[in-house]
This record gives sequence, C-alpha cells and structure tokens, in this order.
Amino acid sequence: MSPMDPILKVSDLRKDYVAGSECVHALDGLSLEVNQGEFVAIMGASGSGKSTLLHLIGGLDVATAGQVVVDGHDIAAMSDKDRTLFRRRRLGIIFQQFNLLPTLTAAENASLPLLVEGNGVSGMADAAEALLKKVDLGHRTSHRPQALSGGEQQRVAIARALINDPAVILADEPTGNLDSRHSQEIWELLAKLAHCESRTVVAVTHEPAGAAHCDRIMVLKDGKTLGEFRPETKGDAALVATRYAELVG
Ligand SMILES: Nc1ncnc2c1ncn2[C@@H]1O[C@H](COP(=O)(O)OP(=O)(O)OP(=O)(O)O)[C@@H](O)[C@H]1O
Ligand SMILES: [Mg+2]
Repeated sequence: MSPMDPILKVSDLRKDYVAGSECVHALDGLSLEVNQGEFVAIMGASGSGKSTLLHLIGGLDVATAGQVVVDGHDIAAMSDKDRTLFRRRRLGIIFQQFNLLPTLTAAENASLPLLVEGNGVSGMADAAEALLKKVDLGHRTSHRPQALSGGEQQRVAIARALINDPAVILADEPTGNLDSRHSQEIWELLAKLAHCESRTVVAVTHEPAGAAHCDRIMVLKDGKTLGEFRPETKGDAALVATRYAELVG
C-alpha cells in the first residue's frame, strides 16, 4: 500500500438480506474512500444502510458483492478466523451501547482487547491508564461502569477501541444514548483523535451537531450514496442540518 492510497476503500458494495420471499437490498452498490486522519460522518434516514455499511467495513458481516479494503487488506478475501483477528487487532469499534463488563473497572474494561489477545498482564495497566488519561478519565480508572456517567462509560469504550492502535475507528451512533452535553464531549474527542493524532474515524450519526465536527459528511439513501458535503464551519450544526435537508429533499 502506498502512502497515497486511502486507508479505507469500499467499492461497489452490495448487501442483500433475504427474509422469507423478500429480498432487501440494504446496500446497493456503494463506494467510499477515506484517507488517513479523515473524520467522516455517515448520515441518512433509518433503514438507509448505515449500520450495514459499518458492519461490513468492520468485518462483522460479509458482503453479497463488492470490496472493502482496510489498510491494504481485502476483508472479504479473509477466512472467518483471519477477519476476526483483523477486526480485533486493526479496527476499533464503538457502538451506541457502551458494552462494558459491569464487574470490571474502567482500566480493566479498556484493557480487555489485550487480554483477549492473550497478552501478559505486564504493561497492560499502564497502557489502559494512559488511554483513560487521553480520554480525560485519568481520575476514574478504578471505577466500575455503574459508577460512571453515560459519557464517561462511552469514553471508556473509546479507550478500549484505541488500545490496539487501530488503523480505523468505526462508531455506530456513538452518542445515541447520551444527552447533548455528553454527546458534544464525545464528538470533540473523536475529532481530536482524527485531527491531532491522524486517526481515521468513520461515524454513523443522526445528529447534525455531531456530524458538524467531521471533515466530510456522506448521506445514504436506500443503500446508495445520495451525496456528500463538507461542513464549511466546524461545529455549525444548523448549517449541517440545512445542507442535509437540501440533499434529502
Ligand atoms: N439481519 C437483517 N435481515 C433482514 N433485513 C435487514 C437485516 N439487517 C438490516 N436489514 C434491513 O436492511 C436495511 C438497512 O438496515 P440498517 O440497519 O443498515 O439501517 P440504518 O441506516 O442503520 O438504520 P437506523 O438509522 O435505523 O439504525 C433496512 O431496511 C433493514 O430493515
Ligand atoms: Mg443503524
């Protein structure tokens, strides 16, 4: 892979779901390129294929046709085992539900991917603490999820997603369970990871206030790209809402 190649390349991606006699074209020939350090939002009406796209990029499901290449690796060409390992080692995935283990502390939850990899415990606590500091939770490392706010829990989930130094971070409605203040903090954190650390972030959202932090907004309709635009002024949610409404019509 040359340094000029996009870190993520999705080509003519199709995903059909067959339910009884019905076939849903959840993705209908979608293409997308994302460069290293870019922060891209995926928007679109409910059912437009946003989560399906993220699941296919994340190797959580397999496409009907088309290609997903992450960091030079063709996800579809991998065996199930290799795809699972690739996802664990090279991708950081964040969901609307924080999916933290209730009996583990913030530091233990953040280190979980290292444990799953069978790494020894030495250095694990330091790595988790450094990441928790990065997400402004240095003072909460020993707290269990129930003693953390929703925004704090999502920041632990972000630390967990970062612990394997992923090539791409994928987030599906990461602030869907948060109030607007905590949402804002999470979007600012994701933007910082992209713009200060050159991490690549692809985030699905319904929130113009979140998408306004991104470099580029791609809008889906019926499993296809309806269009895309760049927020001219970062953080201007009203502008994003207007451009989005114009596109969706
Ligand atoms: N496992 C499945 N079996 C059958 N159809 C499915 C399945 N998963 C998704 N679909 C259908 O595929 C389409 C796209 O679904 P997807 O979950 O990607 O939408 P979305 O854009 O993420 O929506 P939302 O904003 O509501 O989360 C929808 O019509 C949905 O009903
Ligand atoms: Mg969805």
